Amino acid sequence: MKILLLGAGAREHALARCLASAPATSELVVAPGNPGTAAIATNLAIDPTSPVEVVELATQMDADLVVVGPEAPLVAGVADAVREAGIPVFGPGAEAARLEGSKAFAKDVMSAAGVPTAEAVACTTEGELSAALDRFGAPYVVKDDGLAAGKGVVVTSDRAAAMDHGMACLAKEREQLQPDAPESAVLVEEYLDGPEASVFCVCDGATVRPLAPAQDFKRLADGDAGPNTGGMGAYSPLTWAPEDLAEQVVRDIAQPVVDEMARRGTAFIGLLYCGLALTGDGLRVVEFNVRFGDPETQAVLARLTSSLPELLHSAATGRLAESPAPTWSEQAAVDVVLAASGYPGAATIGGPVTGIEEAESLPGVHVLHAGTGLDDDGGGLIAAGGRVLSVVAVGDTVDAARELAYKGLSRIHLDGGQYRTDIAAGC
Ligand code: AMP
Ligand code: GLY
Repeated sequence: MKILLLGAGAREHALARCLASAPATSELVVAPGNPGTAAIATNLAIDPTSPVEVVELATQMDADLVVVGPEAPLVAGVADAVREAGIPVFGPGAEAARLEGSKAFAKDVMSAAGVPTAEAVACTTEGELSAALDRFGAPYVVKDDGLAAGKGVVVTSDRAAAMDHGMACLAKEREQLQPDAPESAVLVEEYLDGPEASVFCVCDGATVRPLAPAQDFKRLADGDAGPNTGGMGAYSPLTWAPEDLAEQVVRDIAQPVVDEMARRGTAFIGLLYCGLALTGDGLRVVEFNVRFGDPETQAVLARLTSSLPELLHSAATGRLAESPAPTWSEQAAVDVVLAASGYPGAATIGGPVTGIEEAESLPGVHVLHAGTGLDDDGGGLIAAGGRVLSVVAVGDTVDAARELAYKGLSRIHLDGGQYRTDIAAGC
């Protein structure tokens, strides 16, 4: 199978690693990729959000499958264009991608499908915002309606901070008034209390297959302090969660959503990321994403023992019901993200990154690149983005994997590098 994978993060390096090592894969191109994917596949520097460039490359390489990593190409209609060109693609079309691109749209689909989620009010004025905050009370949950790379949500007991974030979202909306602007600028939600879990569901438009549940750590600092980030680490399995969590998610959430999307004529083909809160009243959806999560994918795929290319190809071609369910190692996996100083604000880039080989010399450890680049001489690795890399470790227990991941991370150096020291602690 010739595969084109779009994206450049640690999630894509994890996907590339699984795709490249499977016997079913004969050729793997990553666009644009990163220095990590360059070592196991061919990187090609095209714009992954350009439907024209992606179709051209997929056609030229005679791809059997296109796998879309990040959300931006999906929202831009790349999957629609590839599908129209007759090439199987793992990723939803632009209309179905609104499940992630617009939180108000996701709420509408959930309501139609009878899927449990936090009650929410969409606000377009200062008065509505203020009234909604008072209605739900503290802790306040205020969400930018559009795509914000995991950083558009503020959860706080400080009413003034909640109001400020809401007003900033409204101001942004006014600046960006355009035909495809979201239907509301800001959502205020009921606070969901309970541990969170991420369950990824592979979908072919009709059938749903869950992957192993994982948990990520969204806040920047230890003890869940600091701002929300794209994610600072993750682990799988969740030994504390109900054993049938994945089955519950399929039955009560993913299947009803996939059925509702099919009913609307916008089949969901790709990865439905169910971000959940396990509340005292049962499962609630916190968010949907329409692609693999980062950094959960790094941990989940480290445990996959069946063929990833065959799974994704069967979803892209509507044959998921006939294909075997994915299988998992009994071992646990933990990944810890190393971010550059300044992240999640403007990150300091250009600093040398050393010690990756030393980390990978530990059995059970591998390092996945994200915001890395090569220095001007083309030899040394440097930080080139906010989240620089993920250190992944596999061990017999979550604790053993966690210890090993931190041992690996201790061998890596980046001036000013930030990481949490409590990923998967006590899990
Ligand atoms: P989102 O972008 O919607 O996933 O939100 C990012 C993070 O904010 C989530 O992973 C949660 O940790 C937190 N969050 C979002 N919505 C809620 C909610 N209704 N109640 C509590 N926490 C929330
Ligand atoms: N881990 C959160 C996300 O991928 O959006």
